[in-house]
Amino acid sequence: MQETIVMCTPEGFAVNYEINPWMQHHVGDVSSELANCQWRGLFDKLSLLADVKLMHGDVAWPDLVFTANAGLPLAREKKIILSNFKHPQRQGEKAINRDWFEAAGWTCISLPDDVFFEGAGDALFDAAGRLWVGNGLRSDAIIATLLAAYIATPVHRLDLIDPRFYHLDTCFCPLPDGRALYLPSAFSESSRELLTRSFGDKLISLTIEEGQQFCANAVCAGRVIILNKATPRLQQLLEGLGFSIIETPLTEFMKSGGSAKCLTLNLAGWANRID
Ligand code: ARG
Repeated sequence: MQETIVMCTPEGFAVNYEINPWMQHHVGDVSSELANCQWRGLFDKLSLLADVKLMHGDVAWPDLVFTANAGLPLAREKKIILSNFKHPQRQGEKAINRDWFEAAGWTCISLPDDVFFEGAGDALFDAAGRLWVGNGLRSDAIIATLLAAYIATPVHRLDLIDPRFYHLDTCFCPLPDGRALYLPSAFSESSRELLTRSFGDKLISLTIEEGQQFCANAVCAGRVIILNKATPRLQQLLEGLGFSIIETPLTEFMKSGGSAKCLTLNLAGWANRID
């Protein structure tokens, strides 16, 4: 089955403020021309593999381009749990996301206003249908409990401890064959243990260099993995497991702390399982 993915056109994208360590020293430093070209590169590659639906960028909300943060889609019921952004610089995105999803026929669910939740940036389904919820840096710890009320499958909380890897999708990437990539140092010891127990030998550790290249921030479509850049080690490892790797440079978006996965929202909620 083909995936449906939402992307947002990059016309409003810029680094105008600093809400994560990657944005430091990059305010005003984005080339719109290069960003448009890199966004187009991802869009073109993904369009060959998935049905890509578009939102439209807005200069008032430069991080709107990162559609992973719009919310957590529950495809079967055509409902989306909307994000409550932590930083005021992103809070206006919620109304835009609500309007877009309602116009597309989705029912929007809002969590209480006083809890922070940053959508599929911090909530990722694995191939077994378990939901992994990052917290500690953007989304609140209580989110895993709140989400469990909407989801029949197990929901697990993971504690993020490195401000550079502030969303779960910057340091953890479930693969559609049941494996997962992760950056160990981004997690608390108990979360590392939970992942190790849950995935066993299907858990693939990334090096810090791979983490910093946003290798965990990958989009999976069947056996194809699209990411900013893979190290030769990771490329070889994933190809050995039967995946094809497509690199697509996203350096302008990395100045904002985001890469391929952040720029996409998979409406199926989780990648279709492949064996
Ligand atoms: N500048 C954005 C922020 O700090 C980047 C968001 C990246 N999105 C993601 N899903 N990791 O919120």
